[in-house]
Amino acid sequence: MKKRLDGKKVLITAAGQGIGKATAIAFHNEGAKVHATDINDKTLKILKEEYPDINIYKLDSTNKIDIEKYCSQLNQVDVLFNAVGFVHHGTILDCDEKDWDFSFDVNIKSMYFMTREILPKMIKQNKGSIINVSSIASSLKGLPNRFVYGTTKAAIIGFTKSIASDYLKNNIRCNAIAPGTVHTPSWEERVQAAENPEQAKKDFIARQPMGRLGTPEEIATLAVYLASDESDFVTGIIHSIDGGMSI
Ligand SMILES: NC(=O)c1ccc[n+]([C@@H]2O[C@H](COP(=O)([O-])OP(=O)(O)OC[C@H]3O[C@@H](n4cnc5c(N)ncnc54)[C@H](O)[C@@H]3O)[C@@H](O)[C@H]2O)c1
Repeated sequence: MKKRLDGKKVLITAAGQGIGKATAIAFHNEGAKVHATDINDKTLKILKEEYPDINIYKLDSTNKIDIEKYCSQLNQVDVLFNAVGFVHHGTILDCDEKDWDFSFDVNIKSMYFMTREILPKMIKQNKGSIINVSSIASSLKGLPNRFVYGTTKAAIIGFTKSIASDYLKNNIRCNAIAPGTVHTPSWEERVQAAENPEQAKKDFIARQPMGRLGTPEEIATLAVYLASDESDFVTGIIHSIDGGMSI
């Protein structure tokens, strides 16, 4: 039986855990050839043990030289899933210049580097789908203590729309996914780092009108749609998936 991503080659950042990992698995299960990258080779190795057909590569998405080297040996790339991101907790007064630069490097400059390397391949193919992971905490919604995170995630929205507009004629689509709170390892870490983890957990869940967090697999389902030809008429759109947070 034909699968939804048969014949597609996909490149994923931050595929070691959370949304990136769930998406790598979903893409693989739908027939794609998956290149999974992450800065953490331990989690990548676990992914490889679970799914031997997935290619893994340790890659820091903020390292321009390594990205160029890695991408230069990939021929066809049909889908780029830019998942890498870091949550800085705090207001503008908690965010010094180092925090600002780090968040911009990880959350948006990484996408700039990856996309600059992969776009020329897609232009040659006259087809491609780029999917960027933004957040509900962005230009969509202001959330407390998400100052630089929300700023970078809003930048991803401008980035996505610009690329969608510039490369529409090349048959290259660019969309963003804006999740609400999703149950991932880094979310667990944020809860455990709070002064009162039990209360922090309750507060996160209370923010969600549906009264629960999303799962990485739910986000991956949307990613499969955006990666597949089923969404060929969809570009430049920010797809909120947030349990009603943005209503
Ligand atoms: N979890 C949520 O509630 C939530 C909500 C909205 C948006 N997002 C976004 O979804 C994306 C994935 O988040 P998550 O919570 O699923 O994952 P996570 O935070 O649990 O994992 C992040 C992954 O990124 C990798 N990574 C970190 N820095 C890297 C770098 N420089 N180069 C390569 N890899 C690097 C880590 O090793 C890890 O595997 C992020 O962009 C995040 O901002 C998450």
